[in-house]
Amino acid sequence: MEYLTVALAKGRLAELSIDIFEQIGLDCAEMREKSRKLIFTDEKNKIKFFLVKASDVPVYVEYGAADIGIVGRDTILEEGRNLYEVLDLGFGACYMAVAAKSGFKQDDLSNKNLVRVASKYPAIAKDFFHTVKGQNVEIIKLNGSVELAPLVGLSDVIVDIVESGKTLVENGMEVIEKVCDLSARLVVNRVSMKVERDRIMNIVAGMKGIIEKERD
Ligand code: PRP
Repeated sequence: MEYLTVALAKGRLAELSIDIFEQIGLDCAEMREKSRKLIFTDEKNKIKFFLVKASDVPVYVEYGAADIGIVGRDTILEEGRNLYEVLDLGFGACYMAVAAKSGFKQDDLSNKNLVRVASKYPAIAKDFFHTVKGQNVEIIKLNGSVELAPLVGLSDVIVDIVESGKTLVENGMEVIEKVCDLSARLVVNRVSMKVERDRIMNIVAGMKGIIEKERD
């Protein structure tokens, strides 16, 4: 039997995924050990787990280097890869929003000639303003601490993830508009879904059962 391969987004999503994998009988002992390894094997179930940067998960899955991936919906939307999204895992729940300095008025957005939008998610920001709102904006790609941009005059607004809302509050900012809900998703390579359908759907059904049990 060939190994089934699973790409996990390093960090919290991987840890929460491992909790569920163990509950459905997968062997994640090797991943539990603190190490710098990137490949972990469950010999009993013939599964290999890869730890990769979140934004690379859809890449591994699209190319079939991983049959399955677990990653946030923000990354899936931003990367726009050709893959199946088969399960909402529920954890890592947060949302994407347009935010600005407190006191910013919606009119400031519609009246301004060319609004500047800073974001770690330029594709999501572009899609929201250009396609959904039909507004031409200038997107400025940043790699982190996006909340700083409007405070120092780099942009008018930001498009970023809001979880607790603390980062916005502590920087004198507020949500102007919600873009979409986010959470961890299970994605599957299109060819693997045909070739390894039974083994993949078995894992999906197992994970779904655990999530639903925890929800009740
Ligand atoms: C994320 C996100 C927000 C913050 C939201 O940033 O981009 O800045 O968390 O969380 P909160 O609503 O609970 O405050 P991250 O911590 O990944 O750091 P970064 O901005 O440097 O990428």
